[in-house]
Amino acid sequence: MQSEKIYILAIESSCDDTACAILLNNTVLSNVVATQKIHEEYGGVVPELASRAHQQNIVPVIHSALKKANISKEQLSAIAFTSGPGLMGSLLVGVSFAKSMAMALNIPLIEVNHMRGHLLAHFIDDNESEIPEFPFLGLTISGGHTQIVEVTNHFEMNVIGETIDDAIGEAFDKSAKTLGLPYPGGPLIDKYAQLGNPKAFQFSRPNVKGLDFSFSGFKTAVLYLVQREVKNNPDFIKENLNDLCASIQFRLVDIVLDKLKKAVKQTGITTIAIGGGVSANSEIRKILQSTEKRFGWKVHIPKFEYTTDNAAMIGITGYYKFLNKDFADLKITASSRAKI
Ligand code: KG4
Ligand code: ZN
Repeated sequence: MQSEKIYILAIESSCDDTACAILLNNTVLSNVVATQKIHEEYGGVVPELASRAHQQNIVPVIHSALKKANISKEQLSAIAFTSGPGLMGSLLVGVSFAKSMAMALNIPLIEVNHMRGHLLAHFIDDNESEIPEFPFLGLTISGGHTQIVEVTNHFEMNVIGETIDDAIGEAFDKSAKTLGLPYPGGPLIDKYAQLGNPKAFQFSRPNVKGLDFSFSGFKTAVLYLVQREVKNNPDFIKENLNDLCASIQFRLVDIVLDKLKKAVKQTGITTIAIGGGVSANSEIRKILQSTEKRFGWKVHIPKFEYTTDNAAMIGITGYYKFLNKDFADLKITASSRAKI
């Protein structure tokens, strides 16, 4: 099996990125992502527009991935696709395309859970990153998810903590919106925070039991503070933008670290692997890297292109399922609330 060449074409369309990757075993030959710009002006992802854009993008994205990988459709061993969780209209574009392609080429179809994809992205052989040792704690932080997952092997994953309301990326984006910043505001908060005082404004840590998270109260606290201050000083945001961003980021990162420490204590597992768009945040990266020295943890942060939504992570998960001959029936459909 080891010397066999397995080419997997993977499709990811769960939210607002139309993505296709081609893998040769555990290496990535091409990884193409078409990010939908249309949502920027609406301050968030508009589901109806997202599915239409997927419909427009999917064929060019697949052509481009095949061309970059320099292989023909006939060489493919299987088609992997994201079945959920995600936006139903978006997922359906990927599922339908994957099914038709697998049927036309008469090759196996592999269903992949998006969250498992984020966690197994760490197993892509990129000649640089170290692969995490099992068991590890997977932390997925993005605009759609916030979870701590105990990962025992490539297939056994157990969610031990998750958000009970908003995802952490929403807390970044909605706070940014309150500050008048465009969507997605997370990277801008990160940028302005570099120049601000993280202790300038106090936002409290939400009181949520166990390893679960909550961010909806946080976003309201930011809104109330800004509304109150702007009444007295219309230039409040402009005059305090850096400090506001630094204080918001400080607390959001603190919430994540607090829960991670609890998860390590509860499980005894000290290997951490993070994924999702928010793991691009410079403060989270800095703090997590510092835990290697401070607490003796081993922290894995994937290359940026495998951190945000992409199809390479779907391809690597598909590869392990291919080795297990875990194929999907052509009757399969999307499942927007799929669990790990
Ligand atoms: O994984 P992703 O690309 O898509 C989802 O599945 O949601 O994550 C997007 C999220 C957005 O909320 C965005 O604001 C956030 O990741 N993000 C950041 C940073 N870069 C992206 N948040 C904070 N700091 C950043 N540097
Ligand atoms: Zn994601």
